[in-house]
Amino acid sequence: MTPRRFPAACPLATAFLIGASAPAAVAPPPTNYDESKVSSYTLPDPLMCMDGTRVADPATWRGKRRPEILELFSKYEYGRMPAPPVGVRFDPPRIDPAALGGKAIRKQIRIHFFGQSGEPSMDLLVYIPKNHVGPTPAFIGLNFYGNHSIHSDPGIDLNTNWMRDNKEFGVVNNRATETSRGVRSSRWPVERILARGYAVATAYYGDIAPDFFDDFKSGVFPVWQKSGDGTRASDAPGAITAWAWGLSRAMDYLQTDPDIDAKHIAVMGHSRLGKTALWAGANDERFAIVISNDSGCGGADLHRRDFGEQIRHITRAFPHWFCPAFSTYVDRESELPLDQHMLIALMAPRPVYVASAEQDRWADPKGEFLAAKAADPVYRMLGTDGLPATEMPAINAPVAGTIGYHIRDGKHDVTDYDWDRYMDFADRHWHQNR
Ligand code: GCU
Repeated sequence: MTPRRFPAACPLATAFLIGASAPAAVAPPPTNYDESKVSSYTLPDPLMCMDGTRVADPATWRGKRRPEILELFSKYEYGRMPAPPVGVRFDPPRIDPAALGGKAIRKQIRIHFFGQSGEPSMDLLVYIPKNHVGPTPAFIGLNFYGNHSIHSDPGIDLNTNWMRDNKEFGVVNNRATETSRGVRSSRWPVERILARGYAVATAYYGDIAPDFFDDFKSGVFPVWQKSGDGTRASDAPGAITAWAWGLSRAMDYLQTDPDIDAKHIAVMGHSRLGKTALWAGANDERFAIVISNDSGCGGADLHRRDFGEQIRHITRAFPHWFCPAFSTYVDRESELPLDQHMLIALMAPRPVYVASAEQDRWADPKGEFLAAKAADPVYRMLGTDGLPATEMPAINAPVAGTIGYHIRDGKHDVTDYDWDRYMDFADRHWHQNR
């Protein structure tokens, strides 16, 4: 079992350090992988308001504590979520009614965030089961290497935006090539998802904001900052907020698509995009199910558990992901007025699923489970069954109530096993509504 380490065994972190303006790393911050060295901590009570009022009913949660928690995450971790754009515009979908050998309807839609053609836009790829009857429930998630990377389907547009170089994936001079088609198909079992009656939608996260520190000079940031004086406020949005905002724009489109059942859309994300899925689900309650796959630090993992990646690592390697205030909490986790169980609780009472991988110690599987568990009181107070587990379950033994959790064997990745569990979870929560 080889834990991902910072930065040597963590090539992505290394890559971004090179692109980042953070000071050159002298010695990496220490990383604890010894359970016996995790010191005790007290989590903030998600059902206790800042003024000491106890939340004992849904109305107080909805009207007082939930907005308070959302504000805490906006102020101290991810930055403030910008309002939906006024003029979002969708190009007419380009449709292949018989894609994937006749198994799917493929749609590609360019979403102009701000209505203007010269400003950033995002290309959404949607596959709908060919023989669907009526509007179809869907999974949506951002991808790391362009829509063309999720399947070898030659009809998918090759993304032309900046992408991190990857020889194995055919990304050369920061641009995708024909060789890049389908390189990430193992994480997107499209036919498997379609066969279960779900549509699948995805977009490249780099269409929204680049995943390197360039002082917020590209993607949606320049447009957001147009009205400001150029200085970055302590709660200015970072890239995770930008990507989550992009997911909401995809949702804006999906709500207009007659083939999609927009009331049954699950947002799923892996790793940094799992952090993004959680933040998207917290801000945008149109996402009916929220799924975090191996999201780790800044995602489902508890900050107060000093195991694997911590704020001291993440804010140094990825200074562009969070708001400036977050880095002031390096080694001061216990002073944060929030922890990640409160982020998970923001999904309540919607179903939420947290998944870990056994070898993914950098993401701290136990911390991810404990965060899901600590969100349980909010789910129960709202009248749902929360997470029906007192102990962390065994490997490959999923538990599911309105909160679901599993730890599977293997490494940091998205596998068919993970997808099968997410579809089981969606079936269970949605079948009576469909
Ligand atoms: C790095 C980073 C993690 C992140 C992961 C990923 O390992 O430290 O926080 O989740 O990259 O997105 O793949």
